[in-house]
Amino acid sequence: MNTAKIFTPFKLGAVALPQRIVMSPLTRCRAGEGRVPTALMAEYYAQRATAGLIIAEATSVSPCGYGYPNTPGIHTDEQVAGWKTVVDAVHAAGGMIFLQLWHVGRSSHSSYQPGGALPVAPSAIAIQKGKVLAADFSMQSYEVPRALLTEELPAIVAEYRSGAVRAKQAGFDGVEVHCANGYLIDQFLRSSSNTRSDEYGGSIQNRMRFPLQVIDAVCEVWGAARVGVRVSPSGVVNDMRDSDPLTLFGSFLGELSKRRLAFAHIIDADTGDIRHGAERLPFEKLRASFSGPVIAAGGFTPQTGIKFVEEGGADAVAFGRLFIANPDLPARMKQSAVAGAVVPYNALDEATLYAPGPKGYTDYPKMG
Ligand SMILES: Cc1cc2nc3c(=O)[nH]c(=O)nc-3n(C[C@H](O)[C@H](O)[C@H](O)COP(=O)(O)O)c2cc1C
Repeated sequence: MNTAKIFTPFKLGAVALPQRIVMSPLTRCRAGEGRVPTALMAEYYAQRATAGLIIAEATSVSPCGYGYPNTPGIHTDEQVAGWKTVVDAVHAAGGMIFLQLWHVGRSSHSSYQPGGALPVAPSAIAIQKGKVLAADFSMQSYEVPRALLTEELPAIVAEYRSGAVRAKQAGFDGVEVHCANGYLIDQFLRSSSNTRSDEYGGSIQNRMRFPLQVIDAVCEVWGAARVGVRVSPSGVVNDMRDSDPLTLFGSFLGELSKRRLAFAHIIDADTGDIRHGAERLPFEKLRASFSGPVIAAGGFTPQTGIKFVEEGGADAVAFGRLFIANPDLPARMKQSAVAGAVVPYNALDEATLYAPGPKGYTDYPKMG
């Protein structure tokens, strides 16, 4: 199995990967003052530079796009400078890194918003399930967001465009537009969070309009061959529901195919999602809706990831929690694929996922 396909090179759009083991975007809440990436973040990402591709954590393109403490942004010069140190460290270590562009929409809280305003969303529908961690670290109910006016949408598209420009200034190898996990773009896509009566709501065609405008704006900056899109068609996080998700995401992936993006990054439902009420959409059908390279993510083990690529389920696999705990994940996977080798994987420390500082961040050991 050490000659397994997952260890072989692959071209994702304009980007040549040495192998197909991708690091998932992972929010770790370690940005500094002004939501500027820090030297510690540079160290963390550089430690993981042997990933075929790193997709850096969700990063807000707008001051209104935050919904968690200490997540980074990409809308100020200081943030660009901070990200440049991260990108330079990854490049110096021989890696490649995309930035995930983000706006949380309604899953924010007024305590994160400029002037204490309400979070914005396609429609004035609050998330019912769960609580939001407010800026003072108290748990609060989600607020009813303010529905965006039609004439406000071009300014948000422009924020994504500026984020893409700034990501280029920081030296990233490309960008991934975050259309997954119930954040702003997903909120526009799904019928449960988008009940608009203008040309951005109603039919699937209309619900895809804002997401595609964002993606087209980002492609204008980067060229489609350096732009990926992440979707979570089976996801239920942040109260995501749709009346016909297979048709919706089939249509969306079809539109993305026309644009010849670098990749579609599709999150499959894992056992955790299913426990939370997700109905797993058939991955092979989703994959078939996209004509370009596909990265699969969600609950893969080294063994199932290797097998999935081997059998043609996807072109590459993204690992999240395994990469947090195992900075040298590709080497471990390769080693363990050698007949008879037993390679231990570090266990994840859940308590330090979003905690400040190096503990549970940069102190996971590499193989001895
Ligand atoms: C701590 C943590 C932070 C995450 N942050 C992000 C994020 O910023 N953007 C995103 O698209 N997904 C995020 N996710 C989802 C992961 O990218 C991934 O899809 C998920 O963990 C399932 O993959 P895994 O089973 O390999 O961990 C996060 C998951 C975890 C555990």
